[in-house]
Amino acid sequence: MWWHNAVIYEIYVRSFADSDGDGIGDIPGVISRLDYLEWLGIDAIWLSPIMKSPGRDQGYDIAGYLDVDPVLGTLADVDRLISEAERRGIRVLLDLVPNHTSIEHPWFGDSRTRRDYYVWSDQPNNWVSTFHIPSWTYDDREGRYYLHSYLPEQPDLNWWNEEVREHFDHILRYWFSRGVAGFRIDACYIIVKDRLLRDNPPAGPRDHLWDRNRGQRPMWSAYQPEVHDVLRRWRKICEEFAPPRLLMGATWVPELDELAGYFGAGDELQLPQYFQFLFAEFDPRELRRVVEAWLAALPDNEVPVWVGSSHDLSRFPSRWCDGDNALIRTGLTMLLTLPGSCVLYQGDEFGLQDTPVQTEDLRDLTGQCRDTYRTPMPWRDEPGGGFTSGRPWLPMGDVAACNIADQMRDPDSVLHNARRLIARKKALKGVYRPVEVCDEMWIYRRGDVRVTLDFREGGPSRTRVEGTIS
Ligand code: GLC
Repeated sequence: MWWHNAVIYEIYVRSFADSDGDGIGDIPGVISRLDYLEWLGIDAIWLSPIMKSPGRDQGYDIAGYLDVDPVLGTLADVDRLISEAERRGIRVLLDLVPNHTSIEHPWFGDSRTRRDYYVWSDQPNNWVSTFHIPSWTYDDREGRYYLHSYLPEQPDLNWWNEEVREHFDHILRYWFSRGVAGFRIDACYIIVKDRLLRDNPPAGPRDHLWDRNRGQRPMWSAYQPEVHDVLRRWRKICEEFAPPRLLMGATWVPELDELAGYFGAGDELQLPQYFQFLFAEFDPRELRRVVEAWLAALPDNEVPVWVGSSHDLSRFPSRWCDGDNALIRTGLTMLLTLPGSCVLYQGDEFGLQDTPVQTEDLRDLTGQCRDTYRTPMPWRDEPGGGFTSGRPWLPMGDVAACNIADQMRDPDSVLHNARRLIARKKALKGVYRPVEVCDEMWIYRRGDVRVTLDFREGGPSRTRVEGTIS
């Protein structure tokens, strides 16, 4: 299957390329850059949500699952994107947000569906939203509280309701029929909630950082066994299509055995995302531990997908490498030579760093300040960065210091290096075998190929991939 050894390129649509000068990236903009992506050699693009949304959480609050957000384009644009991408051997994955809708979704407007499709309680329990606010908001019309695992404008759907499940069956088939190759599924591990809505226990010292920050372990608000019923149901829908469609889950599941459970018996997600790189230091011993722990926990015949950067938790060229080009090459070499697939977040391929955003320019309305890793792509050194002819919705950062056009002209650039690694990745098939790790280096083999990762700051870097690829 193509996703067993693939580079999936995450496009944050609003910040990729703007075709109409309104300062916001859009789908025609993505189409206009497909030649670049083909040149880069990636296998698939995953688009941040493109469905109709009032934009309280940049598209992660959907008001129409079968409609395209007019700010981003039209359904015809999506069809054109799929066929233009296909001509270049690139598959298109969309982001599906099943845990919650927008408060503006017609289901929340209509009194019958509002009552039946959402999660209600007379008394709020102690659950805390991912955005660190109470998870319950009082609704005057119902005289009760509704649940929201994120913002009050993102009410959680009631996945115990068969009608909700049927709607999503239809949504999946609708997009798959249009030629979408699969979905990245947002927050899929939390969609089903404890029926009794029991209080979560406090987080303990052994709990993951993200639970400790929130003060509780989401024992009843997430990870319910019934989530797997839904995933199995979706996987069957994937198999109705030829070629079968892909489900890549945003699975913030700290226990590795539990995370491995999201593969099911080969009948759930094909790619549950493993996020531990986002919390690990850029230290050879630590990264090796993180990698080997997940490889050891993987069920037979399943592959990992590695994630170094994301629109939620910063770019690795900043977080790990502090902009040091030698280290960025090491990070890319690791991501692109480990077994399985990897996600590159737009900009990773040329070492784009997080961009500081002044308070008055912040556009993330959730209070999470994630704008610094969502700023627009610097395509060229010019005002608007080749991203827009208008005023970019978020600041561009220093486009002269880092842009794609300059790096394309330089065969020794981070970008060209990433392109060579991507081209080589396809042929890397041997199993992972550790050779050596010390304070500065991590060396491993993939069959006859030997990968040396150098973690020392500054050059000259000893990072390299050597040997013949069978
Ligand atoms: C996921 C998305 C994030 C969004 C949240 C709510 O974590 O990656 O960007 O805010 O879900 O849908």
